[in-house]
Amino acid sequence: MARTKRNPLITTGEIMLWVLFFALLVPAGVVGWAIGHYTGHNTVTVTAGAATTTATPTTTAAAAPTTTAAASPTAAGKTVFAANGCGSCHTFKPAGSTGKIGPDLDTRPAQDAPKAKMPLAAFVLESIVKPNAYIAPGYQKGLMPTTFGTSLTKAQLDALVTFITAK
Ligand code: HEC
Repeated sequence: MARTKRNPLITTGEIMLWVLFFALLVPAGVVGWAIGHYTGHNTVTVTAGAATTTATPTTTAAAAPTTTAAASPTAAGKTVFAANGCGSCHTFKPAGSTGKIGPDLDTRPAQDAPKAKMPLAAFVLESIVKPNAYIAPGYQKGLMPTTFGTSLTKAQLDALVTFITAK
């Protein structure tokens, strides 16, 4: 008797539990889905926010080229310098190069130009297009390529000279 009485009670209790369970689970699921869905939209909003943040760097990027444009002769020369392997032979701080085969371009052209009795820019240009016209003391003739005068355009040569004489 006690069992028969308890069993229906447990059954009713169990049913109540299940009903309660589903009554909570289903809305929870729906709410969970809704939240997930909403969060999904939220993520899009966050991405949009990030895009807005990215748009701000674009403003910075737009401002940066203005700065680069102001220093653009140097920037062009730096590119030519790097593209032609000048740095493999020359140390030059603005180019970040540490080559040791040729003279240090941070200091030597300024010292050698007076020795060659030339203005600095003219000396640097001559040193690039006709390296053997003046051999930097302590360095060997015939090491610096003599082809830059023909392989580089006048604009590239000017950019190089500006870059090297800029400091
Ligand atoms: C293979 C090595 C090598 C490369 C590459 C090279 N140079 Fe030189 N450069 C030398 C040597 C060695 C000298 C010193 C001998 C001389 O005066 O010609 C020199 C001299 C110079 C000088 C004269 C420095 C002074 O004070 O007399 C300048 C300026 C110069 N190089 C610029 C450049 C530029 C710009 C490039 C790239 C377009 C370049 N060099 C590529 C080896 C090189």
